[in-house]
Amino acid sequence: MDQQELLRQVLGQTRSSESARRKNEEPPPAEKQPPEGAKLLPLPEPELLPDTQVNFLELIELRTTQRKYSGESLTSKELSYLLWCTQGVKMAMPNGGSRRNVPSAGARHAFETYLFVQRVEGLPAGFYRFLAFEHALLPLQELSATTDAREDFLSSFHSRPVVENSAVTFVWVAEPERMLYPYGARGIRYLYLDAGHVCENFYLAAESMRLGACALGAFEDEQLGTALGLDQANGEFAIYGAAVGKL
Ligand SMILES: Cc1cc2nc3c(=O)[nH]c(=O)nc-3n(C[C@H](O)[C@H](O)[C@H](O)COP(=O)(O)O)c2cc1C
Repeated sequence: MDQQELLRQVLGQTRSSESARRKNEEPPPAEKQPPEGAKLLPLPEPELLPDTQVNFLELIELRTTQRKYSGESLTSKELSYLLWCTQGVKMAMPNGGSRRNVPSAGARHAFETYLFVQRVEGLPAGFYRFLAFEHALLPLQELSATTDAREDFLSSFHSRPVVENSAVTFVWVAEPERMLYPYGARGIRYLYLDAGHVCENFYLAAESMRLGACALGAFEDEQLGTALGLDQANGEFAIYGAAVGKL
């Protein structure tokens, strides 16, 4: 199939906003629930960062992709600030929506944030999931005991050296049902649009703290999904990522 035809098909198949909501179905939950009794790690309040005065235009103009980071660790407050700026919840809404620090079509916010942590003060290296409503981390897997998981994760990125070198790599995982509930097939487009907003806030928040950041869109979908333990059979997929580290 040529690319023009492919584009026509994709746009055609995602045109309709025929939705489950119109059929009076129950909305999917606003957050992927942690396992019963899971121990959550609370994150420090992000309010006091950055501790430098930020000039907005300067921030926009200085933002650039950085692919090399020093071996210095991020503080847990810097991590907390990045999470707050990219997915922080300001208000829960009925029907599984929420108001957050990024815009989202219909306030659906159909992402979960997965973290590959290598260097954050006070946080063991490992995989975590951010619980946006609790502003806390759910530990998934420590890295020391799981060399295979680390390797599987790293090798799923085409820019492996960036990820390997990062203090933390964020992966935004789409929960399509949350977006498709009101918008049907058109919601697929909104997932990608929403992901762009999230990553731009990531870049700007990183720049405001003089951290280096790199967006990550080139990866092996299924391999990354497997490394993160995603429920791929039910539609969960990694949509976008970003690495961060001290310069
Ligand atoms: C959607 C998207 C995907 C990207 N994926 C990668 C990636 O996989 N690896 C990488 O090194 N950079 C990636 N980048 C960073 C771009 O290469 C970078 O933004 C571009 O070269 C422009 O440079 P600037 O960000 O410094 O303005 C991505 C950027 C975007 C917006």
